[in-house]
Amino acid sequence: MTIPISAPAPSRGRIRTASFAGLALLSTALLYATALQQAPLHLCPRCMEAAQWSGIFQASPQNGKLRLEQINISLTEQGYGTPHADKSVDNKPLTMHGTVYSRGLGTHANSALAIRLNGSATSFQALVGIDDETNGKGLVDFEIIVDGRVAANSGLLHGGQAPVPISVNLARARQMLLLVKAGRSSIDFDHADWANAFFTLAPGAKSLPTAVPIPTEPPRMVIPPPNPHPAIHGAAITGATPGYPFRFLIPATGQKPLYYAAHHLPAGLTVNHVTGAITGRLPHKGVWHVELAVAGPRGHADRMLTIVGGWHKLALTPPMGWNSWNSWAGNVNQQRVEDAAKAMINSGLAAHGYQYVNIDDTWEGPRDKQGFITTNKKFPNMAALARSVHAMGLKLGIYSSPGPFTCAGYPASYRHELQDAQRYAQWGVDYLKYDWCSYGQKANGSGVEYFAKPYWIMRKSLDMVPRDILFSFCQYGMGDVWKWGARAGGNCWRDTGDINDSWGSLSGIINRQIGINQYNGPGHWNDPDMLVVGDVGWGNPHPSHLTPNEQIMHITMWCMFSAPLLIGCDMTHLNKFTLALLTNDEALAINQDPMGVTAHLVYQKGGAEVWERPLSDGTHAVALLNMGDMDQKVGATWAQLGLKGKLPVRDLWLHKNLGLKQYGVSFKVPIHGAVLLKIGKAR
Ligand code: GAL
Repeated sequence: MTIPISAPAPSRGRIRTASFAGLALLSTALLYATALQQAPLHLCPRCMEAAQWSGIFQASPQNGKLRLEQINISLTEQGYGTPHADKSVDNKPLTMHGTVYSRGLGTHANSALAIRLNGSATSFQALVGIDDETNGKGLVDFEIIVDGRVAANSGLLHGGQAPVPISVNLARARQMLLLVKAGRSSIDFDHADWANAFFTLAPGAKSLPTAVPIPTEPPRMVIPPPNPHPAIHGAAITGATPGYPFRFLIPATGQKPLYYAAHHLPAGLTVNHVTGAITGRLPHKGVWHVELAVAGPRGHADRMLTIVGGWHKLALTPPMGWNSWNSWAGNVNQQRVEDAAKAMINSGLAAHGYQYVNIDDTWEGPRDKQGFITTNKKFPNMAALARSVHAMGLKLGIYSSPGPFTCAGYPASYRHELQDAQRYAQWGVDYLKYDWCSYGQKANGSGVEYFAKPYWIMRKSLDMVPRDILFSFCQYGMGDVWKWGARAGGNCWRDTGDINDSWGSLSGIINRQIGINQYNGPGHWNDPDMLVVGDVGWGNPHPSHLTPNEQIMHITMWCMFSAPLLIGCDMTHLNKFTLALLTNDEALAINQDPMGVTAHLVYQKGGAEVWERPLSDGTHAVALLNMGDMDQKVGATWAQLGLKGKLPVRDLWLHKNLGLKQYGVSFKVPIHGAVLLKIGKAR
């Protein structure tokens, strides 16, 4: 597929592989011997500096050197692709400023590799820069942290620039972190090379520098016990087209059995008192203020729900649900989707507002004689699946692409858009994720018209079928989709490439949201991609590689961003921590705030970030992030946040009121951790 930026190319299940798995088996002696072999040199006549550095490897074996790529570099966390020994991230010869380097590590920002030293080395040095494969694009910053202190920094390096030497003294050092940070808000084209990188070993050292997983700290979060008292959560506003099927499941927690009621429903809608599903058809355009009520053995709760009847009134708050891709990718099938829907109910997730159950790519079969799409054998009966999902009070989503083929190579919608919309409506589909793959084979261009056209065609097609289908664009942010996605009829649009469960990916995507918050609002949302908490793995799920604190930051920021909250994990294996992350009602209420004003970056320095968004009840949500690789204090003053006076502060991950604060807040935030606060008095 043609994507103008390198980083967001669809991962289609690519997962980091242990490229150095065998290394661990080697004896120390063998490691030393390998370490001291000589590297062939490829010297650049134009680059004397590089030549001098390359020359270091002519050192004799007695010199006690260990090359970086001889440690287990597969432990490198990075924002895109896999780390490669002696090759770039795209698996080409390491090349910077015209010089090919036979040795080194090819990675991609944001990248982090932790190394245990315990006095085994006296120094580390490398030549760093952006690989020539980006054709001059990219901007990064290489940083080395030794025992918790920034010991060296390359400064900002852009693509095409000559590599620069970086070195640190490691005498008696216990550990170090090699970092490559994106130099701007996106990680696109940040192909980073550590060339001719080596440790000078300490004479007589008993161990070698060893790559270790990035250090983790206990999650800054409290898991509260389940609340037996009834409470209503989720969206407080929902919309639908009059005359089309309407469905809304009242999300309510509390000791069971619960009895659900809805007063002042418009004619045409009824509530199921046992399941809480409101169904029917709205009679006409209008706005209804419905009083929801839930009663159980431990009391009752009520809350207003605004129902808006009208044309294009979907996604008035960000959609919440599940999508099959991040867990199952091509291994999805009808049973797994049905199981996910059941788990959404049985795990209690639906009771917190999750409603969509979305099938991603690989369900498609050939077109029939009339040109209508069919399913393949993994999905024997799509209509029956939709009925079953609907019977649970949930909604069904599906996936396609505007080109002839989907990203996974299955039949897609090109020149069959209306027929596909008709088929989806017949099946009972409620959500369409529409990719970009293979469209570039059928059209080319670069302006907004080119990018918007396939989405507009599908928008018109969806408008011609008698069913509300939420429309989600998946074209990775090309052509600044946030600027025109709403006009092209999108309810949400991906603004990044594919997420994966690495810190590099998460941090890169968070910073890509800087400056695009103003395009968000009820009915149209930036989509930083699906969640990677829980067991994810694109066909073969494993526990998320994100640390617990990174997962807290992930959920915190997806709530601050008003992002669609599409769970990406295996719903049948939810552990307590994952459930607690996904069911923090106070955080979810920020995501679902009906005003839909999305967080903006207030402050950013040295890895500390402060984000703020106003909420419809007059309070403010504030996230304090530690994007750095050391514990640090992160704070914000009322002046920075535009606040005044003594204000109550509540910590939403500790579920604790922190009392009145007059000037600001400050917290010690763990590495890659987040503090989520609600500040001010609710109206
Ligand atoms: C990618 C998309 C993924 C997934 C995949 C299916 O382009 O970003 O989220 O949908 O295609 O092939």
